[in-house]
Amino acid sequence: MTPRTPTLTQFIMEKEHAVAAATGEFTFLMSAIALSTKLISREVNKAGLVEILGLTGDRNVQGEQVQKLDLFANDTMVRTLARSGTVCVMGSEEVADPIPVNPPYTCGKYVVVFDPLDGSSNIDVGAPIGTIFSIYRRRSPDGPGQAMDLLRPGREQVAAGYVIYGSSTIFVYSTGEGVHSFTLDPSLGEFLLTDEGLRIPEQTRIYSINDANAPWWPAWVSRWVAGMRDGVGKGRYTARYIGSLVADFHRNLLRGGVYAYPADTRDPALPNGKLRLLYEAAPLAFLARGAGGHATDGHRDILDIVPDSLHQRTALFIGNREEVEAAVACHGEETGRGPADDR
Ligand code: AHG
Ligand code: MN
Ligand code: MN
Repeated sequence: MTPRTPTLTQFIMEKEHAVAAATGEFTFLMSAIALSTKLISREVNKAGLVEILGLTGDRNVQGEQVQKLDLFANDTMVRTLARSGTVCVMGSEEVADPIPVNPPYTCGKYVVVFDPLDGSSNIDVGAPIGTIFSIYRRRSPDGPGQAMDLLRPGREQVAAGYVIYGSSTIFVYSTGEGVHSFTLDPSLGEFLLTDEGLRIPEQTRIYSINDANAPWWPAWVSRWVAGMRDGVGKGRYTARYIGSLVADFHRNLLRGGVYAYPADTRDPALPNGKLRLLYEAAPLAFLARGAGGHATDGHRDILDIVPDSLHQRTALFIGNREEVEAAVACHGEETGRGPADDR
């Protein structure tokens, strides 16, 4: 790294200066997110050393076991963002209801939805985990933000990103024009630019899916995956599945690939699959689009789905456009629906 390598804040500031009406509030918001993730990264790195590993014994709003690190990450995001004065309401995987920003903190013009810690099942085994965030401009006129500020289609995001806590800590974000990545230099405590304008490689032989769920998949998903296994006309594929959406997505962004978590029939309580629309699927769909990729629930563009509730689930097929379109085609053959029915 040389002094010519911009830090995350410098980079965002330079981009924001190019926008005539910019007030600096967005840069300040992103700095608050970056600060939260540095605090989380520090905690993740020492998770094996202190008594932070293991379950709290509680369950979150979706009945899942909550790790202590999930709670630490959630608290860190909520407090740091509230204090930044740039946010009016937040939504978190770990909190059932919208989290308004109340006095003594000042309400800002942004709305942030996040998965404070993604891939929690990997915490205890040292595999990569992450934080996912999604940013909207507020819709309600003033005062603390409301549910209407949160229930928005992904297309309205002003920015989205994630941080991976892996062999290094990597911050990836986009405001819609280009996807940029930054690596934390622990000696400086700063994220430094590593890649500007990332594009998903067009050719891929990687698919990422939990195929232990195959017995419960719809037939079209099985046909789509079988097509990749056979690799007719393209050559054989290989499977890569970490079980941390952020880490699986990041690898596919750099190497090319398609990640899928389809709806399955195993759990009647989860007819739309496991992943959450607002703070998992939509932000990654925004990044995928920025990098030349695509994301769908099988027939609709993820960015077009208008949520009914904060913790809504969705099936997700995300990555290289061609591969995602092959999934949509398989879905269409079975149901008679095509991508044109998306709108
Ligand atoms: P979270 O830890 O935020 O609950 O998310 C876990 C998600 C996602 O990261 C991952 O891709 C998926 O769960 C893995 O699910 P399976 O173990 O069912 O494959
Ligand atoms: Mn998650
Ligand atoms: Mn989580």
